[in-house]
Amino acid sequence: MLYCDAMLKQVLEQGREVADAALERLLPPATQHPTSIHQAMRHSVFAGGKRLRPILCMEAGRLIGAHAGAAALPAGIEDVGAALEMLHTYSLIHDDLPALDNDDLRRGRPTCHKAFGEATAILAGDALQTQAYEVLAQIQCPAEARVAIIREIAHATGTIDGMIGGQVVDLEAEHKKPDLATLEYIHSSKTAALITASVVSGGMYAGASAEDVGRLRTYGQSIGLAFQIVDDVLDVTQSSEQLGKTAGKDTAAEKTTYPALFGVEESIHRADALVDRGCAQLDKFGERAETLKGLARFLVERKS
Ligand code: IPE
Ligand code: IPE
Ligand code: MG
Ligand code: MG
Ligand code: MG
Repeated sequence: MLYCDAMLKQVLEQGREVADAALERLLPPATQHPTSIHQAMRHSVFAGGKRLRPILCMEAGRLIGAHAGAAALPAGIEDVGAALEMLHTYSLIHDDLPALDNDDLRRGRPTCHKAFGEATAILAGDALQTQAYEVLAQIQCPAEARVAIIREIAHATGTIDGMIGGQVVDLEAEHKKPDLATLEYIHSSKTAALITASVVSGGMYAGASAEDVGRLRTYGQSIGLAFQIVDDVLDVTQSSEQLGKTAGKDTAAEKTTYPALFGVEESIHRADALVDRGCAQLDKFGERAETLKGLARFLVERKS
């Protein structure tokens, strides 16, 4: 059967619903004492993100599970997705702080520090991070896979080739002449690492072999880099209204971005080539890989 846009739309919509339901269940209620922090966490989590990391995780799990003969999502995998989304949202809250990108708008809402003050926003980011690991410690897969997933995700969000390392170099590269090595380090670390961990942890949850984990990893690294290239392009080409976050910020802050180094057209060309390369990793799975390939295409064709 030919994979079509309607099927991809359904994957995105259903995936978002499943991820949202898991987040609703796994985050403390807004009425829980001390309420201000729980309200702040929920303000940022439930502001309408695309939920791409949970969806990539779940679809990688479905692919590997299907490989082993099952069609449905591996039971309980949405909790891994929810933990990934908590970590991603924590990174956004901190990315928007005055000391980092100093943004007022996120996911179509005032940023966490605008709505709740800086101290609560810092703590809400911290709290989403610790909540993610409490959830991961309880996921329903063999203990060995659980430990491997926790290590994978912790490393991907850490300082060595991970999210925090990438954020540090992103900030230090402001107002400097961009060079390709620094640019690739920033993008691969601040963004592609968590996207890679999302795909890899979904595969591990479903019992992927080392060889298949390797394929998922290479796919994740390629599409993750493409994702951040497109984020840079959208910052230049779209409006704040369309993005739900302030457009034109990268140019204003003289960030090291793909459009700054290559221009918009060449950046899109590079993102497309990365997606092709990433998808080729999944050819051995045949038709079952169509969803992950479709998601990769969506990442570069999206407009927000
Ligand atoms: C934005 O990520 C931040 C980056 C890592 C580029 P998304 O574009 O996935 O943001 P949401 O989750 O949909 O808001
Ligand atoms: C942020 O990159 C990446 C992380 C949050 C780790 P950006 O600073 O480009 O993200 P946006 O554009 O503010 O979403
Ligand atoms: Mg930033
Ligand atoms: Mg930012
Ligand atoms: Mg950006």
